[in-house]
Amino acid sequence: MRIKLTINKKTKTFDIPPNRMLINLLRSRGLWSVKRGCETGDCGSCTVIVNGLAVNSCIRLAVQADGKSIETFESLETANDLARLYEAFMDFGAIQCEFCIPGMIMSIKALMDKNPEPTEEEVHDAIVGNFCYCTRNRKPINAIMEAMKKMRRKW
Ligand code: FES
Repeated sequence: MRIKLTINKKTKTFDIPPNRMLINLLRSRGLWSVKRGCETGDCGSCTVIVNGLAVNSCIRLAVQADGKSIETFESLETANDLARLYEAFMDFGAIQCEFCIPGMIMSIKALMDKNPEPTEEEVHDAIVGNFCYCTRNRKPINAIMEAMKKMRRKW
């Protein structure tokens, strides 16, 4: 099947088998932030943003994203707010093995794109599908809330 995707603002056509998972297509493009974890939609390590929604790319067929815009963690590399968020994650000891961090940050980005000043409950809800095996999500939530205090503008 031929599909067209816009990945991190670059549009490209792909010829793929209909059963190709989105995670596999993205990783084949060198987007290694899209982590291969449980592959059952439970851990959130593979989270990317598709047309503004945080989704688990391990349980989405690439063809389901045809014509859509996809953002991965790589799209944030130069964002100032990413640096602030990372700093807060380190201050709170929220970065340990780092495996879950790209997916978690993409879930937070999807939230903040729609709601730049979310409550702690909204942050909790946004990352409920992202599981941090090192910290059980408490430290990341504290770090995110602290980073957001420093952020005065949208991503
Ligand atoms: Fe996709 Fe775990 S690898 S949710």
